[in-house]
Amino acid sequence: MRILVTGGAGYIGSHAVRLLGQAGHEVWAYDNLVFGHRGAVPQGRLVEGDLHDRTLLERTFGELGIEAVVHFAAFAFVGESVSDPAKYYRNNVVGSLSLLEAMRAAGVRKMVFSSTTATYGVPAHIPITERETQKPINPYGYSKLVVEQALADYTKAYGFGYAALRYFNASGASPTGDIGEDHTPETHLIPLVLQVALGQRDAITIFGQDYPTPDGTCIRDYVHVDDLGAAHVKALDLLQPGTELKLNLGTGRGYSVREVIDSCRRVTGRSIKELAGPRRPGDPPELVADASLARSTLGWEPRYTKIDDIVATAWRWHESHPQGYGK
Ligand SMILES: NC(=O)c1ccc[n+]([C@@H]2O[C@H](COP(=O)([O-])OP(=O)(O)OC[C@H]3O[C@@H](n4cnc5c(N)ncnc54)[C@H](O)[C@@H]3O)[C@@H](O)[C@H]2O)c1
Repeated sequence: MRILVTGGAGYIGSHAVRLLGQAGHEVWAYDNLVFGHRGAVPQGRLVEGDLHDRTLLERTFGELGIEAVVHFAAFAFVGESVSDPAKYYRNNVVGSLSLLEAMRAAGVRKMVFSSTTATYGVPAHIPITERETQKPINPYGYSKLVVEQALADYTKAYGFGYAALRYFNASGASPTGDIGEDHTPETHLIPLVLQVALGQRDAITIFGQDYPTPDGTCIRDYVHVDDLGAAHVKALDLLQPGTELKLNLGTGRGYSVREVIDSCRRVTGRSIKELAGPRRPGDPPELVADASLARSTLGWEPRYTKIDDIVATAWRWHESHPQGYGK
């Protein structure tokens, strides 16, 4: 298939671009480079543009003969979405509607969409299944939930077919070490801890050590970025008019903040100083996926299930690119 990957110059998108290409698809990234990196996309495969530019989107669909869209482009800083919700509704909701309208005009009706655990808010059950009520606790989560709903409605009315893939904590990097995570600001735990290992940061702050978990720190489900990419490849193959897939992507195994820090110490062999900080509002103690529906629907199995293996790929990238794509 000929596929346009929005946000394809970003962290997860760049890994998906590579895996989709390896699976035999013709792939282009569409990214405004607000957070993406030119160096994360193969030469000649980047269309520089914004989700709000419908004219460029429609021209791109026509000229490249695009048959499906994998839609990663969004803003994803939860805290910022609380202080500046307009920015999130504009980019993640209005931007996605612009994309959907351009698709409709061009007759492109297949989409794999990046959704998130944040659509569940504070879940009543762990592990989290897709039957859990979606009740976000921040504008970021709502912005993703609105797009899930739009996709469901477009599917019924206009013959779209879609998969909304709800990622847990994306982590790691390509085992080749040449593409990886480079966010500014960085808010994700593993790269932050590895920045301490690299001497770029003095210490890692653990926000809350009194949660009702075995070691008192928050537990999250870390899913490798290449495992996410592999699920997108499989989901695309299933899309037909009327297809509606809503799937959690996680490993089903949680690791606490303390376990992640210890893993980073083992993998890097370096000392990593930690500091105790207060709980952050809106941080549930535990978020772990029940991904059995993704397993059975897609025939997908995460290859990286041990935190040390995930951290090792991240470390290969960060050690060889201490300034990310900048150097
Ligand atoms: N990283 C995670 O753990 C995680 C978890 C759940 C869901 N997600 C979702 O996955 C997607 C990718 O996340 P990521 O960590 O790779 O983020 P990222 O910031 O690295 O990638 C997003 C890309 O989208 C581009 N972009 C943003 N707005 C755009 C616009 N209006 N037009 C064109 N391009 C635009 C950015 O330049 C960037 O390259 C996001 O939709 C995010 O909400 C991420």
